[in-house]
Amino acid sequence: MSILKNCLGLSHEYIKKVLGEGDIAIDATCGNGHDTELLCSMVGDSGHVYAFDVQKQAIDATKERVKDFNNVTLILDGHEKMEGYISGDVSAIMFNFGYLPGGNHNKATKKETSISAIDAGLRLLKKGGLMTLCIYSGGDTGFEEKNAILEFLKGIDSKCFSVLSHDFINQKNNPPMLICIEKK
Ligand SMILES: C[S@@+](CC[C@H](N)C(=O)[O-])C[C@H]1O[C@@H](n2cnc3c(N)ncnc32)[C@H](O)[C@@H]1O
Repeated sequence: MSILKNCLGLSHEYIKKVLGEGDIAIDATCGNGHDTELLCSMVGDSGHVYAFDVQKQAIDATKERVKDFNNVTLILDGHEKMEGYISGDVSAIMFNFGYLPGGNHNKATKKETSISAIDAGLRLLKKGGLMTLCIYSGGDTGFEEKNAILEFLKGIDSKCFSVLSHDFINQKNNPPMLICIEKK
């Protein structure tokens, strides 16, 4: 097995370093609920997970996946509105951009709402908290969202946040990249 994990595997490794029992976490793009399930298992009964998606199909799939947990709130709304649901002190926020696997490609994340949601998430993170961003490009996803997000992230104040990029630069077919943002 390779030491270097893929984008999703790497994001999970980082999340495991910051998230524990009693913490608050956000899955900003719950999709089929794989990341939501991981977050629920990590924060335990004394913690809480908020999971967002704009598609009912995704919320229903996530509800089924996390049916054995009682520490999660599923929200059928855009992640750009997360500050309307959560007030702060968040330890970890996961974004997995793009479209729902097996779902409607027209309901993919969009650069404007994605950037607005990242900005909101950075305000909600507590000091020492971590945001992970899995960013897809190429194919029918294109490069517009990725380029816009990277431009936005380059402008983030380095006194307040560390932004680390992970990119498999020799792989073909535009593999997803991982960005991790730590609040100092
Ligand atoms: C790549 S999928 C997420 C996969 C998911 N993490 C999983 O484990 O299955 C991206 C999801 O983002 C959702 N999405 C698109 N725009 C959104 C928005 N403004 N707010 C929240 N979710 C959004 C899509 O409906 C889709 O389900």
